[in-house]
Amino acid sequence: MSVISKIASSHSFSDKALLEVLSDDKYDQELFSSADEIRRSVYGTDVYIRGLIEFTNYCKNDCLYCGIRRSNSDCDRYRLTKEDIYGCCEEGYSLGFRTFVLQGGEDMSFKDDDICEIVYNIKSRYPDCAVTLSIGERSRESYSAFKSAGADRYLLRHETANAEHYSKLHPQSMSLENRKNCLFTLKELGYQVGSGFMVGSPFQTLENLVEDFKFLQTLGPDMIGIGPFISHKNTPFKDFPNGSLELTLRLVALLRLVFPKALIPATTALGTLHPNGRELGLKCGANVVMPNLSPVRFREKYELYDNKICTGEESAQCRDCLDRRVKSVGYKIVTDRGDARTIK
Ligand code: 5AD
Ligand code: FES
Repeated sequence: MSVISKIASSHSFSDKALLEVLSDDKYDQELFSSADEIRRSVYGTDVYIRGLIEFTNYCKNDCLYCGIRRSNSDCDRYRLTKEDIYGCCEEGYSLGFRTFVLQGGEDMSFKDDDICEIVYNIKSRYPDCAVTLSIGERSRESYSAFKSAGADRYLLRHETANAEHYSKLHPQSMSLENRKNCLFTLKELGYQVGSGFMVGSPFQTLENLVEDFKFLQTLGPDMIGIGPFISHKNTPFKDFPNGSLELTLRLVALLRLVFPKALIPATTALGTLHPNGRELGLKCGANVVMPNLSPVRFREKYELYDNKICTGEESAQCRDCLDRRVKSVGYKIVTDRGDARTIK
């Protein structure tokens, strides 16, 4: 049996097998077609869409890779009002979105009560929609309050599962331990949880990526988001090379083999790295796209990395563009909530 069919049939891997597949392009063809086969057997040709609302670019953290880090004084800061946010949802709903993702920097001026009010209002207006939060590390009490207000899902990438590597990407005030605790707390509270990591972040080794897979096996997330690291000109990592397309696609495909039922987005970072990055991601096992619903006038300001795509297009344009792109590779966008097939 080939190394790929071994991983695909057992949904598990040995360190050696994973390292081998990650470092040699001779497996790519079999890897990618096997990932697509599994994706089709679980999800058919369906692609789920999530409407991303980037509602604040203020952040108290100083992650070394991120363009909206606190120390970036060049970053033009903004906050959407609650009414702005509801407006994005209204437009998104009419475009067929049934999941809204509220994403922001760690902006403590949005108190727990504010987040609860926003979540509650969106859920009341659109009971058939899922609300996802992606607002970083908060306390168990906060997460619990958001859940009671109606939040369904939470996205928090672990970024890297190796503590030493984590400390090279983050300031001392942050720790992998706390990150992991947040993720396990979110699971305990009944959220559908999304985690993930960057590919090709500075100092990352292939062994680190094996650790990422092992951590994800322990966590059992519903969604796994990965994208290439892309340098941002106003960060300490400005001179580091971007992550590679090939390695990202290999990892997307391997994730599909190991986590057959996971929701795996073809990320905006992948689309930024290569003009057809998202289509390639879909062909390698990804089954979600997350276009932006934020008002166009703010889009350029939510610059996590350089040259981010879709900053000039209206939400409706992105929706049409994605429809075409998804169709062009043989899949179709569906407009239901897009829950994971079974919750692990
Ligand atoms: N390149 C790629 N991805 C990035 N993110 C933050 N900064 C960058 C960058 N420079 C990712 C992180 C974060 C998500 C919202 O965006 O993984 O969790
Ligand atoms: Fe935004 Fe294509 S997805 S313009």
